Amino acid sequence: MLCLAIDTSCDDTSAAVVLNGKKILSNVVSSQTQIHKKYGGIVPELASRRHIEMIVPVVQEALTIPKVTLSDIDFIAVCYGPGLIGSLLVGCGFAKALSYSRRIPLVPVNHLEGHIFSVFLEYDDLNFPFLAMVVSGGHTCLYIIKGFGDYIELGRTRDDAAGEAYDKVAKILGLGYPGGPIIDKLTKEGNNTAFNFPRSYIPETFDFSFSGIKTAIKLKIQEFLQESTFYNDAQESRVNKIDILDQQLIKDICASFQKAVIDVLLKKIEWATWKHKIKKIVLSGGVAANSELRTRVKELAESLELKVYLPSLPLCTDNAAMIAAAGYYHFQSGNLASLDLNPKAYLPL
Ligand code: KG4
Ligand code: ZN
Repeated sequence: MLCLAIDTSCDDTSAAVVLNGKKILSNVVSSQTQIHKKYGGIVPELASRRHIEMIVPVVQEALTIPKVTLSDIDFIAVCYGPGLIGSLLVGCGFAKALSYSRRIPLVPVNHLEGHIFSVFLEYDDLNFPFLAMVVSGGHTCLYIIKGFGDYIELGRTRDDAAGEAYDKVAKILGLGYPGGPIIDKLTKEGNNTAFNFPRSYIPETFDFSFSGIKTAIKLKIQEFLQESTFYNDAQESRVNKIDILDQQLIKDICASFQKAVIDVLLKKIEWATWKHKIKKIVLSGGVAANSELRTRVKELAESLELKVYLPSLPLCTDNAAMIAAAGYYHFQSGNLASLDLNPKAYLPL
């Protein structure tokens, strides 16, 4: 079964061709980072406009790489939420038009389901049930995946997602966008015990909260700036105030921030596997690309005799192959979309 999959949920235009929900024949991602970089975050209107420009060439490339045509495609899988509504509309509208004009069945896929099922593209030995944590720019959620379509949500973030916290902290520190990979890199030269930033464990729940740590960092920076002898000069001369901070200090803040975020994520994973007696952990989403998180979750799994499944780096961040992986199960279960499929910005799993 050959699937053409499309994801335009956020700021990446992506299309993939995947065989039997498993073998990636192409997985094209057109990133919009350069467009949004100067604003320090995604500008939804610019994102949807760029998707409109890129959707045709991206789909064409995804078909050209494996030398297939639309006549070879058995079904189209499209991400219809959650995400930015203007962005989702482009992918959904395009997929519906293709489906209608070429008489190709259309399968609707939840973006979070895509992130979770991305591991099936690379692992053959994963079976149900397993614990799944999705950590990305828009989501931080913990689920028990009992089977296909059988999911229990244990918790989610009450405010910022983990990736959002990375992006916001990077913005506060004047580091650029997206913050995750930048902080990941700077952390390697920082001291992660330099600052004891708050960890929001929220007892008796699997929910998360990452907005407090961002505020703590903001306050810490203000303290340092006010202590700086250059502070008043900088204020008057309109120099970017962050630029007067010591570079090592910034690395130490990054390392201490990252440690605090990962401590919380791992604590909840540990508790959930213990409470629900689960032996397998899937970690996916953009933040799952983080080098320290990957190392520490593997160490945790080893110490608790659990097995951890991590997608390779290109499959952690948004991509359409993961939509095909989940779409394959929908197609097999006969879960097809009609032409009145509407994207949804809010779409729980
Ligand atoms: O899954 P994704 O591509 O998009 C969403 O569905 O949100 O995740 C993007 C997020 C961004 O917040 C980005 O900063 C973060 O993933 N990210 C990372 C790393 N690479 C990407 N966060 C921490 N460390 C990384 N290496
Ligand atoms: Zn995502």
